[in-house]
Amino acid sequence: MKILGIETSCDETSAAVLDDKLKILSNVVLSQDEIHAPYGGVVPELASRQHILSIGYVVEESLRRAGLTVRDIDAYAVTQGPGLIGSLLVGLSFAKGLAFYFDKPLIPVDHLEAHIHSVFLENKRIPFPCLALLVSGGHTSLFFLEKKFHYQPIGRTRDDAAGEALDKVAKYLDLGYPGGPVIEKKAEKGNPRKFAFALPRMTDQSMDFSFSGLKTAALRTIKQNQINGVHPSFLDFLASFENAVIRALLANVDLAAKRFKPRSLILCGGVARNKKLRRDFADFARKNQHPVFIPSPELCTDNAAMVAALAADKISILGELPLSLGLNAYPRT
Ligand code: KG4
Ligand code: ZN
Repeated sequence: MKILGIETSCDETSAAVLDDKLKILSNVVLSQDEIHAPYGGVVPELASRQHILSIGYVVEESLRRAGLTVRDIDAYAVTQGPGLIGSLLVGLSFAKGLAFYFDKPLIPVDHLEAHIHSVFLENKRIPFPCLALLVSGGHTSLFFLEKKFHYQPIGRTRDDAAGEALDKVAKYLDLGYPGGPVIEKKAEKGNPRKFAFALPRMTDQSMDFSFSGLKTAALRTIKQNQINGVHPSFLDFLASFENAVIRALLANVDLAAKRFKPRSLILCGGVARNKKLRRDFADFARKNQHPVFIPSPELCTDNAAMVAALAADKISILGELPLSLGLNAYPRT
């Protein structure tokens, strides 16, 4: 069985072909970073317009790299939400057209579930129950998974996502978009203890995140110290801010691990490409004797392989699914 997945929830146009054992036959990701970089963030209308231009080429290329034609595809999978509505509609409409014309099942996929499911592409046996930290540009959430497909949301951001905070601070310093990878590279040479940032604290018992306070504190520090690209403490500032974001993430993982007592830990989403976060998360897991699962960097940022993987596993558990032409996109969870 061959499944073609399509992902257009934000600013990456992606198509992938997988077999039913979750072997990736192709995973094409066309980034729009250059288009959005001058604005320091994703411009939704530009994103939808670019998806409409790229989607045909990206799907064709995914088939070519897999050595297949569209007639070899047995089922289609597509991201239904959450994401930018115009962007989602491009992928959804394209997938509906293919599934309708070739009379194949069309499986809708939730973007957040797909990010978590990306770990199953490289690891078939994950001990359950499991705790998953999803960190991206649009979301920062904790999920408790009793078993596969049983996602219990136990914490989410109340304002900015972690990636969004990194992107906004980078924008303020004219470092380009996306800011996360730029900050990571420069922070490697800085002292993470030079600037102190207070971590957000929830007054209730919740495991929710908040990054807008940390972002505001960072912007205040920039102004007060007149930090710019040539300031002697520029790299130290970036290292300290990156470190504060990671500490805030791990503080909630610690709380959740104590409360839910999982048998393993997952880290996923675009910010999970960050080497220091990967290292610190793995160290935390090791200290607490939890097996840890982190997808390869290219499977952390938005990609269609994770979409097709979730659909492939759903088909194998639920049997063949229908061609659902009535599907609509949803912008929020
Ligand atoms: O998962 P993703 O591709 O898209 C969303 O669903 O949001 O995540 C994109 C986010 C951006 O905020 C970007 O700055 C961040 O992931 N990111 C990183 C790194 N690579 C991407 N953040 C920190 N370090 C990185 N190496
Ligand atoms: Zn994403």
